[in-house]
Amino acid sequence: MAEIIAVANHKGGVGKTATSVNLSAIIASKNKKVLLIDMDPQGSSSSWIGSDNKSDSLYNSVYNAAPLETEKTEFKNLDIVSGSYSLATVENKITGTKGSEFNLYKSILKLKEKYSYIFIDCPPGLGFLTVSAISASSGILLPLEAHPLSLRGIVDMKRIISAISSRSESDVDILGIVPCRVHTRRALHKEVMESLEKSFPNKITPVIRENVSLAEAPAHCKPINIYAPKSNGSMDYKKVAAWVMKNTGGV
Ligand SMILES: Nc1ncnc2c1ncn2[C@@H]1O[C@H](COP(=O)(O)OP(=O)(O)OP(=O)(O)O)[C@@H](O)[C@H]1O
Ligand SMILES: [Mg+2]
Repeated sequence: MAEIIAVANHKGGVGKTATSVNLSAIIASKNKKVLLIDMDPQGSSSSWIGSDNKSDSLYNSVYNAAPLETEKTEFKNLDIVSGSYSLATVENKITGTKGSEFNLYKSILKLKEKYSYIFIDCPPGLGFLTVSAISASSGILLPLEAHPLSLRGIVDMKRIISAISSRSESDVDILGIVPCRVHTRRALHKEVMESLEKSFPNKITPVIRENVSLAEAPAHCKPINIYAPKSNGSMDYKKVAAWVMKNTGGV
């Protein structure tokens, strides 16, 4: 049975896509079947992984719980459900339809046996797509930039996750907080990490340092463990992947 993990933060540009793509690829390289679902209408994780499939499968899933069409990637054990621009229009069409945020969950249920992990790369914001992804998940990974103001953002995310959990059968919660684009030498870093650890004990994953290979990898359509296996970015994401596997019993 798959562990379903939404990678979400309402703030843009914090490392959601980098975290979704690289954790999916690294865990897939450990002989686990992994599915990456690209919920962002911009399709960033689809293009990073080399998929230009613009099918409306995901749109149809969030709209009316239609079956998801998965696609193999060139990377062993890693499948993808691509995002498409049509996802951007679903929110307007669906407003007010009761229970529609569970459509994606219903579609994913049919795939749960096939995979060990399903990662959902969310768009920025807390709209219908992010709410659908959280409603379908067993745990949330929250990438953030290690900055004092980010703490306030986690509180907002926690509030929405609790609200979703209270009206669904699952008890979805934050699985981990992933500090991304970290400059370990900055004085601020230590301060922010200490207050994160204090506020969310046992929820803070190893950090992802700012790393140029991570910024380059999407243009080469390769996850970091394949594009630059010896880079800091690859080492850091491997540590986070091990943390995720340990904390979900998938070791
Ligand atoms: N650790 C890192 N070091 C250097 N660059 C990074 C790192 N992580 C992400 N980036 C780069 O920062 C930008 C934002 O990262 P990413 O796309 O993963 O964020 P996001 O939260 O998915 O953004 P959006 O909200 O727009 O979907 C990208 O250009 C990415 O290549
Ligand atoms: Mg993104």
